[in-house]
Amino acid sequence: MNQDIVNRAHQLLKARKPDWSLEQPFYVDSDFFDMEMELFFTRQWLFAAMTCEIPATGDWIRVDIARESVIVLRKKDGQIAAYHNTCRHRGSRICLAERGRSNRLVCPYHQWSYELDGQLSRTRLMGEAFEKDGFGLVPVAVGVVGGYIFLNLSQKPPSFEPFRTAVESYLLPHDLDNAKVVHTQALVEKANWKLVIENNRECYHCAGSHPELMHIITEFDDPNDPKVSPDYKALLEKKGLDWDALGLPHVHTEGHLQYRAVRLPFTGGMLSMTMDGHPGCTKLLGNLTSPDLGSVRLLHLPNTWNHVLADHAVTFRVFPLNAEETLVTTKWLVHKDAVEDVDYHIPRLIEVWSKTNDQDRQLAENNHLGIRGRAYRSGPYSDVIEGGTRDFVRWYADELLSALEPLANHYSNAKDHAA
Ligand code: FES
Ligand SMILES: [Fe+2]
Repeated sequence: MNQDIVNRAHQLLKARKPDWSLEQPFYVDSDFFDMEMELFFTRQWLFAAMTCEIPATGDWIRVDIARESVIVLRKKDGQIAAYHNTCRHRGSRICLAERGRSNRLVCPYHQWSYELDGQLSRTRLMGEAFEKDGFGLVPVAVGVVGGYIFLNLSQKPPSFEPFRTAVESYLLPHDLDNAKVVHTQALVEKANWKLVIENNRECYHCAGSHPELMHIITEFDDPNDPKVSPDYKALLEKKGLDWDALGLPHVHTEGHLQYRAVRLPFTGGMLSMTMDGHPGCTKLLGNLTSPDLGSVRLLHLPNTWNHVLADHAVTFRVFPLNAEETLVTTKWLVHKDAVEDVDYHIPRLIEVWSKTNDQDRQLAENNHLGIRGRAYRSGPYSDVIEGGTRDFVRWYADELLSALEPLANHYSNAKDHAA
């Protein structure tokens, strides 16, 4: 770990004006980025993929997280497992394609073969004395909730349970285990990953930038926000009663900066996130019967936000590529038995979020370009409308600071001893 970077980041975070944007190096400096990946990002639970993307035994998907690569697969017992995509022979990547289906994983370099449970099962020409035991793939921690697969790359991940238990009941009625991904949009945004999340966590910019989205949602999406309009408040109450009758959870999960689930209605009588507000897929998810369920907004920092509707779901995944580029992957899901061009039409299904994503990409990239300039100074988040962004940055700064603190203290003690 670069000692100077640790000390500098530690000092900057300690001196940070609360609820102001971060200092420039956190957004643009590649050494800061490496430190952040090591101490923060790869220690978090990260949204990786959906269970329905690997429905059968041996299905696998490759998930690249900065310089790490992970194989996520369905084992013979139906459970999902994940392994570092690094061969135990001499370290080659094993899975080179984005996805596949195999009875065992075979390294392309010298054909070492691994079972789906990660054990090394076959090698060629390694000699009589070679023992395969102890050469299994290195596992990665997996957390699954409501069709979502999360990974944690650290050796000692924090428990996944608090998040799982908080949000599971919102997701289960939509049965995303039995959905299918019908469209994927992968955008490489020329912006630091935190600017992508900061932009997502506020709707200050929505009125000026998102004509399509603003047909459907309001600027204020926290039912407890005093700025929620009386009309929207009345709508919340009415829909809340309807959803209570259907046994669907909708109230905002208890205060937690890292994650949340809430079911919120759309405005203007809209049923779905389509241009005309009609369902994007006539076959509803799971066994749902009402198309009028608003959307479950699922957030899990640092890398995903989601809309789970009656007729379809849209998942968003953010992976940093480097300090100044971020991969934002959006997937649209419908019931696995829905038929294209009968139950849904892809251009219609994806129009609102395709346009909105591109608008957000431009906003984040312009933000990043401005921050790179010498005039950039940290600026204040609005208390009125940027609470989500403020909370994200507050959470990020606290998490990173708590990882930096022991290292900075250690370096400082070592310096005292040397003196
Ligand atoms: S590096 Fe994988 S078999 Fe040699
Ligand atoms: Fe936006």
